[in-house]
Amino acid sequence: MTILILGGAGYIGSHTVYELIDRGEDVIVADNLQTGHIEAVHPKAEFYKGDIRDKSFLDEIFKKEKIDAVIHFAANSLVGESMTDPLKYYDNNLYGTMVLLKSMVENGIDKIVFSSTAAVYGEPENIPILEADRTEPTNTYGETKLSMEKMFKWVSGAHNLRYVSLRYFNACGAHVSGKIGEAHNPESHLIPIILQVPNGKRKEVCIFGDDYPTKDGTCVRDYIHVTDLAQAHILAVDYLMKGNSSDIFNLGNGVGFTVKEVIETARKVTGHPVPAVISPRRAGDPAQLIASSEKSKSVLGWKPQYADIEEIIATAWKWHKHHPDGFSK
Ligand code: UFG
Repeated sequence: MTILILGGAGYIGSHTVYELIDRGEDVIVADNLQTGHIEAVHPKAEFYKGDIRDKSFLDEIFKKEKIDAVIHFAANSLVGESMTDPLKYYDNNLYGTMVLLKSMVENGIDKIVFSSTAAVYGEPENIPILEADRTEPTNTYGETKLSMEKMFKWVSGAHNLRYVSLRYFNACGAHVSGKIGEAHNPESHLIPIILQVPNGKRKEVCIFGDDYPTKDGTCVRDYIHVTDLAQAHILAVDYLMKGNSSDIFNLGNGVGFTVKEVIETARKVTGHPVPAVISPRRAGDPAQLIASSEKSKSVLGWKPQYADIEEIIATAWKWHKHHPDGFSK
């Protein structure tokens, strides 16, 4: 198979490329390198630098290469930024996907797997969250991802195209080799922020609120290893290759950890004290997000390998310890 990975220089995209290449597939990566890193692109992948909003760029790839399926990670994904600069998210996430779909339809490319998010649910009505639960995003990022899902639904109804949408919960961890990992600038995610303390980059971690209705008052999240996410994309491509119909799947471990529990585990893994201070709540944070991934398991045959938060944080630490400045060193 030849798979085109849009956003293959980013965090989850680069890990998916590694897994596909391990399986012996041919991989083509396209990335504009605005948030992705050229160093994260597997040396065996063919690389095209360009933007999904540039239709001629996509047309050229589809005409030149024989693509069996597309995996689409090329999007902006910072919740806070999406609230202060919503049009950036409509432009890249929604307009970019529209251009991509036009190019796919015109070039007869009919299978795509793409990144969605737990943010489509907003404040959940049930825990664990099922795919059929209410979707009412509380931020622009989640709204653009939900609109992408709807665009795929209507376009696939009109054209010969099938899709799988994967709604990730909290992606974390790093490749077992320690060669690639999470490197956002600025960083806003909990685990890399915690690990900046033992790396000497930050004095303490701020806990955003300890008055939530949870067991220790801090927010509960479902942390899922990036390699398990990568495997789910490959299973989703296999699912489409077998002729199955379009569908939406949650990807999480089905287990929740509080912010305090994650910090405590990081102290254990790194052997560093990691001071923490209680700060005000962060706007838009739901108290609890835990996935039901039963559908991914039963339909896609997905089996996450990293259920243990200590093991997940250990892979992240292996990466961050040796790359305190991300890919720049
Ligand atoms: N947190 C802190 N201190 C920090 C950073 C985070 O206490 O310095 C807390 C947050 O308030 C939250 C938890 O740690 O309760 C996890 O926060 P992250 O920023 O790591 O992740 P989010 O749960 O906010 O975001 C994730 C995905 C998003 C997705 C969102 C859905 O990363 O892409 O879930 O709500 F949109």
